[in-house]
This record gives sequence, C-alpha cells and structure tokens, in this order.
Amino acid sequence: MNLFREDLVNFFDDALLNKISKKCLEISTQAYQVNNGNIPKWSQAIDTIDALPKGKISLKKPYISINKDCIDSELLMDALHKLMPWRKGPFMIYGLALESEWDGDMKWQRITKHIKPLKNKHVLDIGAGNGYFTFRMAMEGAKRALGIDPFLLYNYQFRAIKSLIESPLNALLLPMKLEEIPKKPIFDTVFSMGVLYHQRDHMAHLSQLQEMMTPDAELVIETLVVEDPEDYILIPKGRYAQMRNVYSIPSIKTLKSWLNDANFNNVRVVDVSKTTTAEQRKTPWIGENRASLEDFLDPLDDSLTIEGYPAPTRAIVVCDR
Ligand SMILES: C[S@@+](CC[C@H](N)C(=O)[O-])C[C@H]1O[C@@H](n2cnc3c(N)ncnc32)[C@H](O)[C@@H]1O
Repeated sequence: MNLFREDLVNFFDDALLNKISKKCLEISTQAYQVNNGNIPKWSQAIDTIDALPKGKISLKKPYISINKDCIDSELLMDALHKLMPWRKGPFMIYGLALESEWDGDMKWQRITKHIKPLKNKHVLDIGAGNGYFTFRMAMEGAKRALGIDPFLLYNYQFRAIKSLIESPLNALLLPMKLEEIPKKPIFDTVFSMGVLYHQRDHMAHLSQLQEMMTPDAELVIETLVVEDPEDYILIPKGRYAQMRNVYSIPSIKTLKSWLNDANFNNVRVVDVSKTTTAEQRKTPWIGENRASLEDFLDPLDDSLTIEGYPAPTRAIVVCDR
C-alpha cells in the first residue's frame, strides 16, 4: 500500500501530529502486512479505483457524494462490490448510491448540533469504521481528522473512497487500536462512537481517550445504554442483538458516573435514541449474510432483542476534559 504511506506522510506534516507520526507509521505498516486471504481481492479493487478519474466531494444528505461525468460505472460497481460488506455510509459515487447498512447521517445529525465547531481543529475518531464520520468531520473544516480502526477491510474501504476524491480532504484512517496510538494530548475533539461497549475495560478506554485530549478538548461518546433510571449495568451472556464482544451496557446514570469517575467535567447527555430499522437497515451492500437489525429483534416484541435483552438504544454524551 504505497499510497497509504504517501498519504500518511502528507497528513502528518503538521507540528502537532508530527509527535505521533513515527509510531503510527510503524504500527499501520505492520497491520497492512498481516496474512489475510482477502487482501488480493481488496487490493485489486483499490487498483481499479485508483485508475478511475477523480471527482468533487460534496454533501448530498444523507450521502457523501463524489461527482464526475464519464465514468465506467461497471468497473466501479465491481470494485466496490469486492469491498463488501459496507456497514457505514451512505455514499453517492458518480450517481451510484452505495447504501450502507447504517445511515450514518442520522447519527451525525443527532451529534453535530451539540458539539463545538470542528473548523480548524485536530480531531480524533476512535473506532472509526470505514471513516464515514471521519470524512464528515473533515468536511466540517477540521484541520486534521484522524480515524483509527483495526479492522482491515474498513481501511481498504476508506482508501477506495479517498482515492476517488479530486483534492483529498484532511482525513486519514489508520489500522490501529486506541491502545496502540502514542498518548499525546494533541486533539481538540475526540470521538468514541459505538466503541465503549466493545471494551473489556471501559475505564481504561475512557482514560486513554483523555490522554489524547488537549486541556480544552471535548469528548463525544456515543454508546449503547439501557433505559433504567438507576445505577445498572447489563452484562450480556453471549451475544447482544447478535453482536459478539458486547461486554457491558450501562444505564445512563451509570454511564455518567463512569465519566465522572474518569475525571471528565461538565458531563451532559445530549441525546438518547432507540435504534430503528430506518437507521440500521438491510441493503444489497451488506453482502451474502443479509441480516440486520430487524432480524436481531424479537419477532413478537421489538422492544427486546432476540436474546431477550432490551432492544438497542444509544446515548450521546458530551463532556470536557
Ligand atoms: C460499532 S463500530 C462503530 C463505527 C463508527 N464509529 C460508528 O459509530 O458507526 C465499532 C468499531 O470500533 C472498532 N474498535 C473496537 N475496539 C477498538 C479499539 N480498542 N480501538 C480502536 N477501534 C476499536 C471496531 O473495529 C469497529 O469497527
């Protein structure tokens, strides 16, 4: 992935980010060298996409849209199919609607009105998926929007989208975990969306997020919660809504106490929303296993998951360092 290196060097040409560039390059290079049988297919897709003309990026809600005339749409379609499943998006690429499983715009609408403007900020997006939100952060004028996600396919998807853009945004996704990134207080806004409940040690996650924040920085946490008025933590036995590795789902009161215990200030819950099948939906872009939220809920009672737990509800919490 030569282009990844070039992209990384350009992105980290910044006085603050320079402090972590060497380690990020080292870890990401290693991650791309892993033995994964899908890499030839994914690399082929990137080669095809790299050869296509680049287009202008804009927002055509809910889509991140890339526009250019005269494109071989069959080639493009074939390359994007090789990168399935597309969980995060949606994108409109040269008129082709890439309907990801999640309509990410719905989450972004719930978040943006409650946070400080991202213009000219250094922004970190932990567990960024394929970088749909990292792109949205850059499109809001962030000086640098860095996403990290260890899942390799998502990094290929990000590369595919970025290489279709005429003048690349200040956005980058690297195949890293929060635990691996050098801890420097250099980001003005740090996002952890859909990540906390996947952590064995949620307090360690919160304190690592804090270590990346400047003294005036803002933290945006989006996570599963249970709507219980009391101190409560749901620890699913086995899967939760068919998801593996869901370790703990707090009540809102518990979530706030975790953030207070981690020494965050001015903790405010700005949104609590039940996840709907309009936001997490079945689309042709999620691949052979077409299951989505509607299959993960109790067919007789959609207030419960098929395992009998409260159906997914997500909270957005904003706080200061
Ligand atoms: C449910 S997805 C959320 C994606 C996106 N942030 C969103 O809100 O739609 C969670 C992502 O977090 C990533 N992840 C899990 N643990 C992580 C960690 N310790 N550091 C960085 N990413 C992590 C996973 O690979 C996965 O892509």
